[in-house]
Amino acid sequence: MAAVAFNEATRIYPGSDRPAVDKLELEIGDGEFMVLVGPSGCGKSTSLRMLAGLEEVNSGSITIGDRDVTDLPPKDRDIAMVFQNYALYPHMTVADNMGFALKMANVPKAERQQRVLDAAKLLGLEEFLNRKPKALSGGQRQRVAMGRAIVRQPQVFLMDEPLSNLDAKLRVSTRTQIGALQARLGVTTVYVTHDQVEAMTMGDRVAVMSAGLLQQVDSPLSLYDKPKNLFVAGFIGSPAMNLIEGEATEGGVKIGDYTLPIARDVLAKAGNEKTLTVGIRPENLSIAEQGIPLDVVMVEELGADSYLYGTLSGATDNEITGQQYVARISARQAPGRGNTVRLTADPEHLHVFSTSSGDRISD
Ligand SMILES: Nc1ncnc2c1ncn2[C@@H]1O[C@H](COP(=O)(O)OP(=O)(O)O)[C@@H](O)[C@H]1O
Ligand SMILES: [Mg+2]
Repeated sequence: MAAVAFNEATRIYPGSDRPAVDKLELEIGDGEFMVLVGPSGCGKSTSLRMLAGLEEVNSGSITIGDRDVTDLPPKDRDIAMVFQNYALYPHMTVADNMGFALKMANVPKAERQQRVLDAAKLLGLEEFLNRKPKALSGGQRQRVAMGRAIVRQPQVFLMDEPLSNLDAKLRVSTRTQIGALQARLGVTTVYVTHDQVEAMTMGDRVAVMSAGLLQQVDSPLSLYDKPKNLFVAGFIGSPAMNLIEGEATEGGVKIGDYTLPIARDVLAKAGNEKTLTVGIRPENLSIAEQGIPLDVVMVEELGADSYLYGTLSGATDNEITGQQYVARISARQAPGRGNTVRLTADPEHLHVFSTSSGDRISD
């Protein structure tokens, strides 16, 4: 097992003037489960492929343990990768698929068989060892792909969206299995997904990327509680955090006809900024006498709770009209659509950002 470090690792594809990954600086601890997450095209796969040795690093370096692997070929890096499409050999049995890399590495047959059997037991694949991939379900194929990585006993596992070919229900159960398996094997893992729920439930830590740039790396809860900028604030959490622009005034931020109180020291830190963006998670809003005016557009009943969707009431041209906000409230409190309600925010859970830079201002 080993730690991994990207040191300002940069990849510029030939013919492109913009880096696909720009000075990635990221340390992954020995045995850690690190998730790279971000929207499609943000550079997740490129980062992983640089670590695997499948993509050139144009500047910066990458280390595994105390070895600089930047210029090593993939086979000398002691890593095993699980791809989205599994890439199983159709003409080989499950056992042969799992043992193939060991055979190529001239591991003796008896040891090969033992390692394949051990991995098969771990993954519940024993009874399928003599089948061909086409006689397996999607979930079983996914486990074979995992098995192929496990038998190699690598220093690092790399996984690029390994669950995206599974249906929703299987995806949920498989992510729990992968998490448990990784914890048990203790192998340093870098896992790529575009799905923030997957990232939050699986990662020891999560690295959020956007447009080739690392935005924040933190534990799932820290990302949720203290997003560093507007991108992370909007990306992590479902339904997404409400991000509401308003004029900075003496005591707070003006939203519609209501001034949302903001702590004095936070306003002081905002300096001369005229417009601030307040972030409020749906669960931190509640119905009150005084508050942000919302025209209710839709109510989604969840049983115990309801999601209240609406637009800012009486929004002027200066305010973002038409943008929808969402509050999670007790089902018994839910007003019908067409009503106007007022919402207050839990002051403990307010996020204040600079509208111009997108950076977090509040603690
Ligand atoms: N082989 C390639 N040649 C040129 N551009 C590429 C290549 N692979 C990816 N890109 C570009 O690099 C950026 C990052 O891609 P990628 O790492 O695949 O993103 P992600 O995995 O986050 O969806 C995208 O703009 C993509 O179009
Ligand atoms: Mg990708």
